Amino acid sequence: MKRHIALIPAAGVGERFGAGKPKQYVEINDRTVLEHTVGIFTAHPGISLTAVVLAPNDTGFSETRFQTASEKVAVLHCGGGSRAETVRNGLNALLERGLAEAGDNILVHDAARCCLPAEALSRLIDEAGDAEEGGILAVPVADTLKQADEHRRIAATVPRNGLWQAQTPQLFRAGLLQRALETCDLNRITDEASAVEMLGIRPRLVQGDSRNLKLTLPHDEFIVRLLLK
Ligand code: CTP
Ligand code: MG
Repeated sequence: MKRHIALIPAAGVGERFGAGKPKQYVEINDRTVLEHTVGIFTAHPGISLTAVVLAPNDTGFSETRFQTASEKVAVLHCGGGSRAETVRNGLNALLERGLAEAGDNILVHDAARCCLPAEALSRLIDEAGDAEEGGILAVPVADTLKQADEHRRIAATVPRNGLWQAQTPQLFRAGLLQRALETCDLNRITDEASAVEMLGIRPRLVQGDSRNLKLTLPHDEFIVRLLLK
């Protein structure tokens, strides 16, 4: 039977957030951001394994905090210099160690998206879990979009019809995702879907959730703290 395996890249330094340590180790309600994120997946009945990809010498995360589900968490010390490299290395490690097979679904999810609602995760699995092309959570663009000129004046109003903002998780068969990441230029992709798109495949857009925001800039912490209360 096809399994659903979460792959959480957590090897970033959090430069824009600027906490003096990687943002995944900021504490909110006695747990780190990374622990909140991992807990969403270990608590979900559809996920059989949650793999966390850390920088090679990072000792900041221990799976013992998830003792009740310890057999469901794997820590991989193979993070790379970019998010895409971290995902590629983590996926290759899962396949090499036999923790995942080519036909399993991999759900790549940013460690910094620690407020993902369980129902949004369920929706992705329900709507894309059986799709060969895979799928991602995304939300339709709500604001009016402006194209800036070089003086930061408005050069044009861009129609927002049909535009979606990509979130994570992004769900793909392990074999497909591995092929996509091995063949594309990793410097040119900003998410897994764009690598799969370069193979000529059109992944599904599944309704995401505005609460699934990514801790990126210092002011994001205020809303994340409210959401995790
Ligand atoms: N990430 C990673 N390996 C990298 C870079 C990023 O695993 N070399 C992870 C981050 O830990 C994060 C996710 O990718 O969970 C999304 O990236 P981003 O929000 O850009 O995090 P950082 O790269 O840490 O932040 P910044 O770009 O501000 O330095
Ligand atoms: Mg980054």
